[in-house]
Amino acid sequence: MRIAVLNGPNLNLLGEREPEIYGRTSLKELEAMVRAEAGRLGVTLDWLQTNHEGALVEAVQGLRGRADGALINAAALSHTSLALRDALLAVQIPFVEVHLSNIFAREPERRQSRIADLATGIIAGFGPQSYLLGLNAIVQRLRAA
Ligand code: DQA
Repeated sequence: MRIAVLNGPNLNLLGEREPEIYGRTSLKELEAMVRAEAGRLGVTLDWLQTNHEGALVEAVQGLRGRADGALINAAALSHTSLALRDALLAVQIPFVEVHLSNIFAREPERRQSRIADLATGIIAGFGPQSYLLGLNAIVQRLRAA
């Protein structure tokens, strides 16, 4: 089974960026944690971070036939990007929307997601653990299918 993890804008700055909200774990450390969990679960992981909306759209388009499922933290693009929504509609891949912070407890503009209703489920507010929970959830769902 192959799972893609797609990370959007500014997540490359994890660990130094607003640590009171996003914590002190760097993206590299987060990737290592998620890769370790993927190993434990026996799944292959593809990992991407991009600051560019078009690159994220192309990454989603590229999932077709290549990944069985995805974890997506589209960061700020979660709240704004119709293009990302359209790509997910086109590709129809099962995915979990993940966020480090609880977006529903933050500013009003962060309380809505343009992709949430397309997701198998959403996990938000558990810091790096959101990714591990999301990975377990999507793998279990795909194995049950
Ligand atoms: C985030 C929440 C978004 O609102 C924000 O723009 C991010 C990170 C999170 O993981 O908590 O960059 O997706």
